[in-house]
Amino acid sequence: MADTAATSANPILKEGHEDFDKEREYATRSPEDQRLDKIRRDANPAQGLSHTALRVKDARVTTKFYEEVVGLPLVRTDVVEKLTAMPPYDKPFDMMHFFFELGDGSLLAFFELEEGTGPELHEMPGDALQWHFAIQLRSEQEVRDVEKRAKEAGINCFYIPHDESLSLYLEDPDGFMLEVNHHRPHFDTLIDPKAAHERIEEWHKNGRRW
Ligand SMILES: [Fe+2]
Repeated sequence: MADTAATSANPILKEGHEDFDKEREYATRSPEDQRLDKIRRDANPAQGLSHTALRVKDARVTTKFYEEVVGLPLVRTDVVEKLTAMPPYDKPFDMMHFFFELGDGSLLAFFELEEGTGPELHEMPGDALQWHFAIQLRSEQEVRDVEKRAKEAGINCFYIPHDESLSLYLEDPDGFMLEVNHHRPHFDTLIDPKAAHERIEEWHKNGRRW
């Protein structure tokens, strides 16, 4: 695992946050909002996340983490021979490209390159606010199950309090920050395209503070 001292020292990243167990009442999204959501989403040329792609040190270690801790199936491996050189890789190289599947058919993809290829991997920042990606689980229990398996495997993980989801953050074997969450009913009520634009303008007018 990458050094996690930076995340552990962050005061907002409290481990074992318990407020999520409280009963809460949530507004539901109105039928009119749902109708507009459908129109907007049907018109969107991007119909989903095809895949992410990250370079890792060892496909076996990555596979163990995503299958055994997170619970995703490995469904595809592309064996790439003598991939054409491209910056910053100055000569052709072999590559293992492998993919884990999510329930909607989208994929988390990874590369392991031929030994000695290209520059060393960058050290990841260990900063969930600088960079992370998130996958959505079916229940809060499934999020807690990932937490349990991560802790048993000695993997650093922590909750960041969100009202709209239960969100667990953990570092994968290469230091990439992964969020596993479960959306609460409140989640969709935060969709508001008009206010989204206005708030960005207001944020900057206020000198980037509220
Ligand atoms: Fe997130």
